[in-house]
Amino acid sequence: MAFPVVDTEYHKEIEKARRDLRALIAFNNCAPVMLRLAWHDAGTYDVSTKTGGPNGSIRNEEEHFRICNAERGFFLPCLKGGLSMSGAVAGLAGVVAVEVTGGPTIDFVPGRKDSDICPKEGRLPNATKGNTGAPHLKDIFYRMGLSGKDIVALSGGHTLGRAHPERSGFDGPWTNEPLKFDNSYFVELLKGESEGLLKLPTDIALMDDPEFREYVELYAKDEDAFFRDYAESHKKLSELGFDPS
Ligand code: HEM
Repeated sequence: MAFPVVDTEYHKEIEKARRDLRALIAFNNCAPVMLRLAWHDAGTYDVSTKTGGPNGSIRNEEEHFRICNAERGFFLPCLKGGLSMSGAVAGLAGVVAVEVTGGPTIDFVPGRKDSDICPKEGRLPNATKGNTGAPHLKDIFYRMGLSGKDIVALSGGHTLGRAHPERSGFDGPWTNEPLKFDNSYFVELLKGESEGLLKLPTDIALMDDPEFREYVELYAKDEDAFFRDYAESHKKLSELGFDPS
């Protein structure tokens, strides 16, 4: 695939943004929120209309303050801490968040165009879809143009962070070390109920679908396989609708 040629100045800016993000994340301990920000910006993509996607539209208040982005009060101050918020920075924030918490290195190709157009509401997955969890995840991720393997690998992003009752109504982290990117999300998923740890209905749905479950089992026993597939799926997510011309 050809990618946009960006000039040296642009590259320098991206490298500076990468350093600023590392410092910002270390200072605020906000890797999980940054990863979720990148995912919520990108996860609105619709492959059939080529709308939404990783274009920084989440920086616009209309989209930013939606219920699904209920980290309001945190994204903006975190991002306004010395960084200009563009599509590139939203995408890079996710890549840096994974890297600085011990996860795989994700290739990041600069050159995204920012958009001020907020996609329609309701494009992100709904965690409460219990019984219809797997079909719901397929509806949402296939609409983005992603695969079943991408669904499972990317769900491993819940190795970082926690849910907050005041934001989503759910409570608690998925793993015992929520600031470490590793394969423990899958290990915990296979173990079943553990005191103090969270499993969303959509996390449990990964165990119900035979194709999904195969990947859950693979990633639980082989962290290298998880890191390899996660890096690939995260790159795909971060490049949805990214027009190289
Ligand atoms: C947090 C749902 C996929 C990364 C959350 C929360 C919910 C949720 C309900 C808790 C929010 C809160 O109360 O603060 C879902 C659903 C998904 C999904 C239904 C469908 C598969 C993903 C993906 C990623 C991701 C693909 C990244 C690759 C995160 C992170 C947090 C989080 C890092 C923790 C944020 C924090 O600590 O503040 N998600 N998510 N999620 N999600 Fe997801």
